[in-house]
Amino acid sequence: MKKLALILGICSVIAACSNSETKSTDNTSAGADQAATAQQSNVDTNVNNIGTSSTGTTGAELIKKSDCLSCHKEDVKLLGPAYQDVAAKYPATEENIELLAGKIIKGGSGNWGDIPMAPHPTISENDAKEMVKYILSLKK
Ligand code: HEC
Repeated sequence: MKKLALILGICSVIAACSNSETKSTDNTSAGADQAATAQQSNVDTNVNNIGTSSTGTTGAELIKKSDCLSCHKEDVKLLGPAYQDVAAKYPATEENIELLAGKIIKGGSGNWGDIPMAPHPTISENDAKEMVKYILSLKK
């Protein structure tokens, strides 16, 4: 019984201490906000990761957001080859995905005609690969 009283005593001291700590620091709520914001951005990143690993929807979206569609269509040749023709030419192997991702980033020419493929140095290798995976998935 004495022990219990002692434990309760210690508990109330700890409670009193932590209470006064909370009151004395007005910054606590700002800190909590920051933590919440940090957590929020973690969540966003995870959501993006989930999208990227799924079945190529993100590749299609990346292509829509970039300038690709001004020179490429899925089924018709514009300035560049139709994506279905690219898919027919290259089997979706890891090697070809890397090769074509490199072409998207650095540009290239001579595979489909005299017009060169525009380089896209701001596109990350990962995004370029997602685009290629989508393009190669269009094979009929
Ligand atoms: C200015 C016009 C233009 C734009 C913009 C463009 N392309 Fe191209 N693309 C071409 C041309 C032209 C070729 C054919 C190049 C060749 O003959 O090697 C090509 C070829 C390709 C190829 C096949 C490469 C090969 O070696 O067979 C892929 C894949 C491709 N483009 C993807 C993309 C993607 C993805 C984007 C957007 C990020 C894009 N292109 C933007 C004109 C363009």
